[in-house]
Amino acid sequence: MKKYLALLLALCMLFALAACGGQTEAPAAAPAAEAPAAEPAAEPAAEAAQLVGISMPTKSLERWNRDGSYLKEQFEAAGYQVELTYSDNDAVQQNNDIANMIADGVKVLIITAIDSDSLSQTLADAEAAGIQVIAYDRLINNAKTAYYVSFDNYTVGVLQAQYVIDALDLENAGDKVYNIEFTAGDPADTNAAYFFNGAVDTLKPYLDSGVLNVVSGQTEFEQVATPAWSTENALNRFQNILASYYADGTVLDVALCSNDSTALGVAQAITSDYAGDNAPIVTGQDGDIANLKNIVDGVQTMTVYKNVSDEAGVTLVVAQEILAGNTPDASTCDKFAADAAFDTETYDNGMGVVPSFLLVPYSIDKDNLDLLVATGLYEMGPDGYLVAP
Ligand code: BGC
Repeated sequence: MKKYLALLLALCMLFALAACGGQTEAPAAAPAAEAPAAEPAAEPAAEAAQLVGISMPTKSLERWNRDGSYLKEQFEAAGYQVELTYSDNDAVQQNNDIANMIADGVKVLIITAIDSDSLSQTLADAEAAGIQVIAYDRLINNAKTAYYVSFDNYTVGVLQAQYVIDALDLENAGDKVYNIEFTAGDPADTNAAYFFNGAVDTLKPYLDSGVLNVVSGQTEFEQVATPAWSTENALNRFQNILASYYADGTVLDVALCSNDSTALGVAQAITSDYAGDNAPIVTGQDGDIANLKNIVDGVQTMTVYKNVSDEAGVTLVVAQEILAGNTPDASTCDKFAADAAFDTETYDNGMGVVPSFLLVPYSIDKDNLDLLVATGLYEMGPDGYLVAP
């Protein structure tokens, strides 16, 4: 009930945020000489819209399409001009795309890094050009970054683990032993380790006591990571695990997957290759449409939902403050309609701790899927599956 109320509250905030975005004052005007050349005059006598560069990793993972659209819509509605690129999960291309945005005269850069370690030189160029950088969702290592806007990534893993603890009632497991396998994310993405550590730390007492047993023995992040967060990589690895450790009828109880793209592959492997007749708990993260369908069908058990429209809204406010010459801090949280905390301790990117605004993730399973419909970001389709509006 508490969780339900918290999510409802967050939903109300989302609607308030939409209203807030629309009312935002135009940011301080850029000097005319620096304005982008072919700027269409949006309104008579209006200042030239400031150009904002948004660099997303790839269209091949569902959520970045949503993030890119929400960011573009919200920044444009607030009077900015937007240059939005997707770099095909190719770090070299992302550096080129960002270099082009710098050359195009963007005033602020919003970047979701493909490889958190690969942007140092390009972002040194951005700094030399006086462009501030907001790391969006993923921390960028060894580069001057003004702010980090994300969710509480460690808590994402905690929620996945807590779901398993509750579903199997591990606290009262007695002598029972449950078999679990882990699937983590892309080692090039700083988030991946936060998710994994949140889950493993939370399950540690049960792993230590033997109530949870990793039959494959693969408990290290490097062993369970999934390059590029790819569904196919997760599928292939999990097929190997099932063939090597579960073909003899050993029961698999839990497949703890860090996100939905990996859960999709793992669920596919279980459907096609698992010899047992139980339905293992499969965790995820994001609320991707295919995974929500799997939750309805009982092929995936839960997902951790992160309202990325809110993440875009918080990013807009932070960018507006920066462009107005202000320094966002804890008091900026009052300007977000969504629930976000200001953190100046957790995210050190090698050049110091990056001040961070962190939103709240939620656990979703088949029993509270309707909460996603209430966000307005999903609709119930005619066949009982959630669809994008
Ligand atoms: C995001 C997740 C997403 C993953 C793969 C992570 O950085 O935080 O929401 O599932 O990337 O796209």
